[in-house]
Amino acid sequence: MPSGDTPGGWNAADYARDARFVADLAAPLVDLLDPRPGERILDLGCGDGVLSHTLVERGADVLGVDASPDLATAARERGIHAIVADGHALADCAEISGRFDAVFSNAALHWMKRDPQVVIDGVYQRLVPGGRFVAEFGGAGNVAPIQDALRAQAKARGVDPDTLDPWYFPTDAEYRQRLENAGFVVDQLASFERPTELPGDVSQWLTTLARPFVTAFEPGAARQDYVAAVRDRLVDSLQDEHGRWIAPYVRLRFVARRPAER
Ligand code: BEZ
Repeated sequence: MPSGDTPGGWNAADYARDARFVADLAAPLVDLLDPRPGERILDLGCGDGVLSHTLVERGADVLGVDASPDLATAARERGIHAIVADGHALADCAEISGRFDAVFSNAALHWMKRDPQVVIDGVYQRLVPGGRFVAEFGGAGNVAPIQDALRAQAKARGVDPDTLDPWYFPTDAEYRQRLENAGFVVDQLASFERPTELPGDVSQWLTTLARPFVTAFEPGAARQDYVAAVRDRLVDSLQDEHGRWIAPYVRLRFVARRPAER
């Protein structure tokens, strides 16, 4: 769920159809967060608020933050107090008041590519001493064949893939270092492979979740040709004998703490 530099273009209905599995698979992360009644929790990259709602049901006082106006509206329609803000602006955002017992983030930090250290520093500023940062996002190698195909087919059409690629998929070592640079104590951090069955054809995933690549091409024939070419490159490796598409997700999951003041 986005909260980075690509606020435009997200459509809540497409997201609900093609990306519902993102929240459905996050139950272990919510358990790791272990939200308690009355805790103040910031959900960074809250998307359409499905997980924020789970935290509210557990008694937490939740603020959802997302860079997409469309998704933040969908979260508000779900009853979540949600604002539109870039993840790089947490420390200075006037609409966010005070500090939080926890910052939670699922499938969003990889969209905050411009300066990940600024994002982490902002989270640290927004936590009370002793507060925790519990998150999961794409780690090194995440959806690598898909990203490679998107980049190669853009290049084949004369578009520099570096200008389109919106994703930050760090190694464990890099992200741990960044958390420690900010002052966090890292309680746990590890990446793991999570092959994920997509709800439909990979072209729907591409159109909804790889928008910064796909929208570089004119709607109509040029865009359809691009998506079809990417799909063609993936069919042998990602579609199984039953026609199901399995995406090679890699999750980087961690729990980090702002030290208590003494
Ligand atoms: C992910 O959750 O890993 C992801 C989602 C959309 C695009 C790329 C990666």
